[in-house]
Amino acid sequence: KKELQVAIDGPASAGKSTVAKIVAKNFNYIYVDTGAMYRSITYKAIQNNINLNDENKIVELLHKTKITFTPGNPVQHVFIDGEEVTDKIRSEKVTNNVSTVAALPLIRRELVKRQQEIAKDGGVIMDGRDIGTTVLPNADLKIFLIASVKERAERRYIENQKKGINVTLEELKKEIEVRDYKDSHRKVSPLKKAKDAIEIDTTSLSIEQVSDKISSLIKKRI
Ligand code: C5P
Repeated sequence: KKELQVAIDGPASAGKSTVAKIVAKNFNYIYVDTGAMYRSITYKAIQNNINLNDENKIVELLHKTKITFTPGNPVQHVFIDGEEVTDKIRSEKVTNNVSTVAALPLIRRELVKRQQEIAKDGGVIMDGRDIGTTVLPNADLKIFLIASVKERAERRYIENQKKGINVTLEELKKEIEVRDYKDSHRKVSPLKKAKDAIEIDTTSLSIEQVSDKISSLIKKRI
């Protein structure tokens, strides 16, 4: 039985992590949230009062930083040097600054290297922005998930309500648009559908429909 490398890319809040976790569980694969890695180094840079454009300082910090995951459902736990940061890396402050740090080439180089190391033996579902194009160009299956801005903002709004975060729907729409723009216009490995990726528009689909679709695509390739 073949242990596949599966890449799931797409814009912010398109439902990547939700379906990636379900699919990973179906096949007993590991799930790797690469966005959490960019969020973790952004969080740590903010904590250390480092200017977020100071590439050398941040990369120096990253070299001294261990980012680890422990599986869990529905949330995977994230740790920076052993300290749990699962919720902290989802704050509005980190969310609105992560694209700046993720645009720094040396940061990408280091995190891509770590991601490739984790994925090298297969049996992995990795979600992000550049997995199909840069991290795993030879992935066995590449999915590109999209959804309308309206739908994505509404999903974020509901998630925020549960967490007690109060940001208006209008603000969320703007945040999503700004982040998508930055992620798709940076110089190094911008958000882009890989040529051989299968695009799925999740706007009017349920989580189950999307995860079933991806699971059946995996079965065909095993
Ligand atoms: O997936 P998530 O929304 O948590 O990602 C947070 C941010 O990390 C993205 O907006 C993007 O700037 C960056 N990112 C990236 N490349 C990836 C994953 C995330 O640049 N593979």
